[in-house]
Amino acid sequence: MSYPYQIKSSEEYRSAYEASVSDPEGFWAGIAAHFSWRRKWDKVLEWNFSDPDVKWFTGGQLNITENCLDRHLAERGDQPAIIWEPNDPGEDYRILTYKELHFKVCQFAQVLKNNGAKKGDRVCIYMPMVPELAIAVLACARIGVIHSVVFGGFSAQSIADRIQDAGCTLVITADGAFRGNKDIPLKSVIDDALVQCPTIRRVIVLTRTRVPVSMIKGRDTWWEDEIRKVETQGNPACPAEVMDAEDMLFILYTSGSTGKPKGVVHTCAGYMVFANYSFVNVFQYQPGDVYFCTADIGWITGHSYIVYGPLSAGATTLLFEGIPTFPDAGRFWDIVDKFKVNILYTAPTAIRSLMGFGLDFVKNKDLSSLKVLGTVGEPINEEAWHWYHEQIGKGRCPIVDTWWQTETGGILISNLAGVTPGKPAHATLPLPGVQPLLVDEKGEELHGNNVSGNLCIKFPWPSIIRTTYGDHDRCRTTYFATYPGLYFTGDGALRDEQGNYRITGRVDDVLNVSGHRIGTAEVENAINMHTGVVESAVVGYPHDIKGQGIYAYVIFNGNKTDEASIRKDITQTVARIIGPIAKPDKIQLVSGLPKTRSGKIMRRILRKIAEGELQNLGDTSTLLDPAVVEEIKGGKL
Ligand code: PRX
Repeated sequence: MSYPYQIKSSEEYRSAYEASVSDPEGFWAGIAAHFSWRRKWDKVLEWNFSDPDVKWFTGGQLNITENCLDRHLAERGDQPAIIWEPNDPGEDYRILTYKELHFKVCQFAQVLKNNGAKKGDRVCIYMPMVPELAIAVLACARIGVIHSVVFGGFSAQSIADRIQDAGCTLVITADGAFRGNKDIPLKSVIDDALVQCPTIRRVIVLTRTRVPVSMIKGRDTWWEDEIRKVETQGNPACPAEVMDAEDMLFILYTSGSTGKPKGVVHTCAGYMVFANYSFVNVFQYQPGDVYFCTADIGWITGHSYIVYGPLSAGATTLLFEGIPTFPDAGRFWDIVDKFKVNILYTAPTAIRSLMGFGLDFVKNKDLSSLKVLGTVGEPINEEAWHWYHEQIGKGRCPIVDTWWQTETGGILISNLAGVTPGKPAHATLPLPGVQPLLVDEKGEELHGNNVSGNLCIKFPWPSIIRTTYGDHDRCRTTYFATYPGLYFTGDGALRDEQGNYRITGRVDDVLNVSGHRIGTAEVENAINMHTGVVESAVVGYPHDIKGQGIYAYVIFNGNKTDEASIRKDITQTVARIIGPIAKPDKIQLVSGLPKTRSGKIMRRILRKIAEGELQNLGDTSTLLDPAVVEEIKGGKL
């Protein structure tokens, strides 16, 4: 497969960018022409940001799996589509060619049909990082079922909330998951969640860890048994459902500044075109390259850059079940060496953590196959950038610092590997089709360079969020109402003298912990579930490895045992309500919180104290009880 739209020089980037701004419809029609359509679109783009209502390629019909699988069969049917490396390096790896993946996706799509799933239904997927996760995702897309993947680290309560919000009817899970030296009992977590989910009619369970699980009669069925049934049916060909360009492809939940996660909705055609276009251009993928993205499919990075982007481009995508530090901190480098990985895409938090283990784990690893390195999910500090560049890339691999969000579907701001210049800690320039701008608090655009403000986008790109599932107005108020006429990212950024963007972090009450988005309100809600807690306030503080850590101030009125066990109890409550990723790093017990006379918590003060800035706390004169600040300062952890 060749990519006629792959940009090869700075000049080509500039002219593509100009074309995408002067004639967006012509530009994207030109790209979209390189995909398989069942019916060509009538109109490239209709949009307004006030409802918001954005439609790409209306009238067009297609199925994303025909673009990810069928269209590659003739030319590259025997090429590896997925290379899978298990958690335990002693277990055999697996390779699925495009032909095999196509076969398995059709087979599992038939399983879904046999179990009553049909176009438009919502299915929750809660699985380990095994090839069957990608197969499940693609099988849903094959028959027009909307997938909602929930990351394997979320708790029963979080799963239940997501299942209820989307009205899912079926769950695909596994008995358990291996992560490092832990076994995670996925099925039993699902069982706990489903107590609250009457809409679920069927649970399909893959065998992975072989822990004993309870199977509920009439509801639960084994993946392997269902496959056998399809085999006895003679493996009927499972034709792809013809989807309208704007039919929903998936829902993916993400945290915002309120307590309830939002179901971000992406649709078929625009998402596919942009995931593919950004993949091919940012990473400069060449046919035959082995591409390794270390994310989990449970996050948007996995959706767009493990599954849909690479597979739609006929790439070989490596899927890793485990964690970077198991069995030791050299695991990524072993994988690069073992499979001769050419492109590596990971998170700054992983780089910082591996950096901390020292160079012993890097030396003696053959990393000479690497051509391109990438980062995603949070700002990368210069020290980590240089370590990645020198110790992993040996000074010869460009690093792409890719800025984007669950809501953007694909990478919006990044250098293009080896084509446009990178700059440490800068995402640099927008991709063609992306029109960023910075605004001040009042929404006035900040022109020129060397300015900083809130990052917005003024024109739709094909994979922009379409709605928040079940609550369109929430989509409008969250992203399109702060600055009318603009999509607001929630991020702050600065633009340097050459026009490069540097993302400085969230400007709302959303934390970025190890590259995971966590709303402070969600953590507070979870803490407040503990019977002894009266009130809490959560803020972020700088953390060497995680980027941001979670600092909780808690008013506790329950049984006063020792502070350590109170903290442990609260931490466990958060893990139970949200999942281990949201556990507070620090819990300070306080007798009051700094509030204004109208009862609003002054988070600014709490943030400063958590950051260790005890002197310049700003104006505290509007506080109801200024003395509380002194107490909190005195007890800082
Ligand atoms: O704050 C930005 C940060 O991650 C947020 C999006 O999180 P999520 O939807 O979970 O998606 C993560 C993977 C795309 C953004 O609002 N972020 C993402 N990439 C970068 C980044 N911050 C700085 N630099 C980046 N390259």
